[in-house]
Amino acid sequence: MNTRVLTGITTTGTPHLGNYVGAIRPAIEASRRDDVDAFFFLADYHALIKSDDAARIERSRLEIAATWLAAGLDPQRVTFYRQSDIPEIPELTWFLTCIASKGMLNRAHAYKAAVDKNAAAGEDADAGITAGLYMYPVLMAADILAFDANQVPVGRDQIQHIEMARDLGQRFNHLHGDEFFVLPEALIEEQVATLPGLDGRKMSKSYDNTIPLFAGGSKQLRETIMRIVTDSRLPGEPKDPDDCALFTIFRAFANEAETAVFRQALLDGIGWGEAKQVLYERIETDVAPMRERYEALMADPAAIETILRQGAQKARAIATPKVAALRGVLGLRAMTTTPAGAGQTKAAPKQDRMPRFASFRDADGSFRFRLFSADGEELLLSKPFADPKAAGALQKRLKGLGTAAVLQVLPRALVLELDGAPVATTPEYPVEPARDEALARLREALDLLALAAQE
Ligand code: TRP
Repeated sequence: MNTRVLTGITTTGTPHLGNYVGAIRPAIEASRRDDVDAFFFLADYHALIKSDDAARIERSRLEIAATWLAAGLDPQRVTFYRQSDIPEIPELTWFLTCIASKGMLNRAHAYKAAVDKNAAAGEDADAGITAGLYMYPVLMAADILAFDANQVPVGRDQIQHIEMARDLGQRFNHLHGDEFFVLPEALIEEQVATLPGLDGRKMSKSYDNTIPLFAGGSKQLRETIMRIVTDSRLPGEPKDPDDCALFTIFRAFANEAETAVFRQALLDGIGWGEAKQVLYERIETDVAPMRERYEALMADPAAIETILRQGAQKARAIATPKVAALRGVLGLRAMTTTPAGAGQTKAAPKQDRMPRFASFRDADGSFRFRLFSADGEELLLSKPFADPKAAGALQKRLKGLGTAAVLQVLPRALVLELDGAPVATTPEYPVEPARDEALARLREALDLLALAAQE
């Protein structure tokens, strides 16, 4: 079976070189693989959370769609659509909202950062914070779960959102006793370059240091590259390629041989102005043909509209039956059909699928316990306690933790912390991927315990 890979692009900005190298180019490359079923969408409902500037959102939607198409996205091959064309997404958002714990949303990084900012400014904690920002992770979970995505390529800042999507999917599955949702995983591309911007910091709209991909044409591209900050070394003085934004950007476009030549030129003391010209020409070689397609598309919004509507049709062929089935599960089906509860009781979470604790007494007389998964895998070993009651109290707290569990990730093991102190550890894992898989299983077990504790 193919892996379904899904990602959304918030439509508030104009794509820059960093977006192209870090997200667009690798995503399009991955979408060409035969074992991948790619879904890309314009997250324009998310854009509403960030901006109330309608003209900006409208422009950004068009620019982003044209950019992805010009960069080689094949709408026949991938499913390319607008979030706002899929009414099942807000519908599913509500279903998930009703099972989302408010505590989980309180812990979302973006929301917490906004609260912290208010606190620092001496304002009311929630001053200026919309419910939209608060609900952002649930909308994103619906984007992902509506299509049963297996993998979600995102930046590190989005990992928590994917974990919340998993949490919500798992909670729904558990509550209604079936595998309604595939649980997604974040796909973090370690190799993908993050480009430095004009000032050497990561290229980002929020730092106002970006180099536009298409906007302003080749003239703007060249002019912006000429503004990249360098040191004051004169022509003839050797430059350090490994401490040089120009070189990092160059390498993101060039092959190995070209990169070696540029490295040598820097070491040989090429002047900064000349080096920038070389960089501009290398980028322009890749960008010029795409820019031509981009401009043709921007001049023909009707063509883009048609592509996106066809994409929405493909997407809804999956989401419509899925959400319709969920309506039935939740008790929202037509009254003429057999009621959900008739003749069967709601599938209760099966006890034998639950993780379990096993207490024991250590050779030195102390009291400890282990947590095992439903499959009998050892997940955690508690620290020793002199008093069995203290060990019991810890078990009880672990049952209620769920997503609030704080896990410290060591190279070969995980440590569960409570109130800032370590209370239990996992076995040692031979390699980091094994540790990461164990982390997922441990989280799943803690979630299951917390759900059962709520009932
Ligand atoms: N929040 C993502 C970002 O800011 C955009 C996004 C919205 C998204 N929905 C998504 C990404 C679903 C992946 C999957 O980058």
